[in-house]
Amino acid sequence: MPVPPVYLNSDPKLFGYSTARSRWPKILQGALEDVSKLVPEASRAEFTRGLQDILDAINNDDEVKPFTKDEIAQNSQLTSYNESLAQLLPMTWQTGPWLYLECHLYQMIEAINLRLAANVDIFEALKHSTFKLLQAGVHELAKHVNSLEETKGMDDESLRLLFREFIDISLWGNATDLSLLAGGISVDDINLIQGKELRRKNEEKIIVNEIDEAWKWVRSKETSRYDIVLDNSGFELYADLCLSVFLLKHGLAKEIHLHSKEIPWFVSDTMPKDVDQLLAQLVEPGFFDAQDDEFKKLHATLKDYFGSGAIRVDHHPFWTLEHNFWKLGEVPGLSDTLRKSDLIIFKGDLNYRKLTGDCEWPETTPFTEAIQDLARSQLPVLTLRTCKADVVVGLPEGKNEELCKEYEAMTNGDQPGYFWTALGKWAVIQFSDGSK
Ligand code: F6P
Ligand code: MG
Repeated sequence: MPVPPVYLNSDPKLFGYSTARSRWPKILQGALEDVSKLVPEASRAEFTRGLQDILDAINNDDEVKPFTKDEIAQNSQLTSYNESLAQLLPMTWQTGPWLYLECHLYQMIEAINLRLAANVDIFEALKHSTFKLLQAGVHELAKHVNSLEETKGMDDESLRLLFREFIDISLWGNATDLSLLAGGISVDDINLIQGKELRRKNEEKIIVNEIDEAWKWVRSKETSRYDIVLDNSGFELYADLCLSVFLLKHGLAKEIHLHSKEIPWFVSDTMPKDVDQLLAQLVEPGFFDAQDDEFKKLHATLKDYFGSGAIRVDHHPFWTLEHNFWKLGEVPGLSDTLRKSDLIIFKGDLNYRKLTGDCEWPETTPFTEAIQDLARSQLPVLTLRTCKADVVVGLPEGKNEELCKEYEAMTNGDQPGYFWTALGKWAVIQFSDGSK
């Protein structure tokens, strides 16, 4: 099938439309409110002016401007942006391609940061406060992970179930509604009705689930390295760390590489310093209401794994370029390291949009077609994605229509059914072994 066009911000039926008109302005407004908390005094006025200019350009639906020579001198990545932009112009903030423009927006915020040498993550306060709010789930999961030691040497079927469970935890860590998280299941429960029932309920929301194919893949080889292309810091990162501990403790992996962003990105994406901060928060007096041994124990385990290099944080500028992931197998300095991986797990919505090019694929398009060259790159890819944008592929015939009806009924007809794709309540787990 020829590659369809990418999603634009101009169509009121699509999610980019409300993102450009309401979500981006809200995000920028929030950033403006945090300037006084985070930006050094000497740069505050200029930083505020910079953010306000971006907000005005979006609200006025101005034409998008290329990055300046001075901005490129401070960040060579922007050359690539200008090259892509030249192919797209003329276009405005409220009508251009959603994915390109959203990447451009975060690079503009970073350009202010670099120009003023402010060196701040303007979303940091938000990242911390959201993590704090979720302490009950953090504690529950710590208990669960700490109990894993007792389950070493388990039979293959129990191990498969546990693998599925930790993959689910990592998946739902990306949801907008964290009550969907498959937490609260003790290791003892794993074969009991309650655990199964909970898993079954959550699994209904996973409308395509290829986890068993990924399991067969990892069990068919001497798996030693997993890579996780991270999404958000806070609870999602914490869930990814719990998955990592599970993989290492059960000998499914010897090394885990976590791929992070180098700059503040899509509000809450993980940067290397966020990993350090999260580890510190687990044992920081007063961060959570109550401190207890579960946090300390998990913290010690994680520290050991980071110390020995079993878990490590990588970063590469490619993850904050505007490109989709179809040529990931050819990215200098990144593809070589990814080739050493036995499974590359992509977290979250933005990574899924980049995997599929954020194109208007029919929903029944096979995943391996939507990821184009990546499906032939020999890179084994697993995506864990709660759906928060229009693009979705690999659905069985009729599923989209069924969910449209279900969502319309859920909202008593107040919202169009096709909005189901953007709410973070449904999810997909899709796999490609890279050998198509
Ligand atoms: O602004 C919209 C968006 O790009 C959506 O794709 C998604 O809702 C969000 O930002 C990022 O989600 P995630 O953190 O799961 O990649
Ligand atoms: Mg994100």
